[in-house]
Amino acid sequence: MSDLLARLGVELPVVQAGMGGGISRHELAAAVSEAGGLGTICTLPPDTLRGELRSARERTSKPIAVNLLLPFARRAHFEAAAEADVVVTFWGGPRRRTAGPWLHQCGSVAEARAAHAAGADGVIVQGVEAGGHVRGVEPALELLARVRDALPSGYPVLVAGGLADARDVRAALDAGAHAAVLGTRFLMSEESRARPAYKQRLLEARETVLTELFGFGWPAPHRVIWNEAAERWLTREDRTPGWLRALNRASAPLGRLAFVERLAARVPPSPSLPLLSPLPPTDGAPKALLDAGPLYAGESVARIQDIRPAGELTRALAGS
Ligand SMILES: Cc1cc2nc3c(=O)[nH]c(=O)nc-3n(C[C@H](O)[C@H](O)[C@H](O)COP(=O)(O)O)c2cc1C
Repeated sequence: MSDLLARLGVELPVVQAGMGGGISRHELAAAVSEAGGLGTICTLPPDTLRGELRSARERTSKPIAVNLLLPFARRAHFEAAAEADVVVTFWGGPRRRTAGPWLHQCGSVAEARAAHAAGADGVIVQGVEAGGHVRGVEPALELLARVRDALPSGYPVLVAGGLADARDVRAALDAGAHAAVLGTRFLMSEESRARPAYKQRLLEARETVLTELFGFGWPAPHRVIWNEAAERWLTREDRTPGWLRALNRASAPLGRLAFVERLAARVPPSPSLPLLSPLPPTDGAPKALLDAGPLYAGESVARIQDIRPAGELTRALAGS
């Protein structure tokens, strides 16, 4: 495991990925950290983030990470995130914004080099198998090998994408990863705040699609399972229609999550309305998002057959 994580007091080489839209909050992050891994609270408005971090601290004295999505992070987000033990950033030009330990999730060698040059304490390389928003364009272990070759030996490189069980974690570590980062597997835990029916759909799913469909306010590729909106709008080649991509691109300047959230509160989500935002069906979100919103999941969803307590999962993934 990386010296960085060991120094922080993380005992197991298992990191729970920050999952936005409110999926990974204090319950999940604290359960993973308390079990010896590193739990991550997702990007949230700054005051909510502070509250979530406080609640996580009440449950565990172990380190907690906070994830920020760079397109939406303002100074107040960084100030709130700086209270965490680790800040993990994603999507866009890496730049040091907080003094403490900082990891940046990357999808290419160029991006990993940029993060290293910007002073990141480590990088997470994301493979194309990943769930949620996907920066990677090649399999995770291939990118891992190329990034390790490109960066100084010993520099912490963690890997994300397609990992679901202890064998996958072992293979990632054997390939030189300093830790394994898992999203979809932890979404399928008791503590994640995905709606129970969303978890149920993932239990039944075998297939994912990499798309730009749910890009209103944030036109970026993401991996989801099929639902009514995906069936309705994606063409036979799994393509988002050109006009819909153009609409999503035009909406990018509005792309503050707060704006998209306000809009979503006013316009009831419907699979037939082409205002398909990146907000997933969390337990507090309208039920209609199950068919009108993104059901983010990675390719590993085909191999995940249960919903388990996150602490138990963390220990099992680490083989301990
Ligand atoms: C539901 C979901 C939401 C995600 N949201 C974020 C996010 O807000 N920030 C981020 O850095 N990564 C996010 N990711 C991507 C993860 O960081 C990670 O790359 C991915 O989950 C790894 O692939 P896996 O899902 O196969 O484990 C998300 C992934 C999922 C499944």
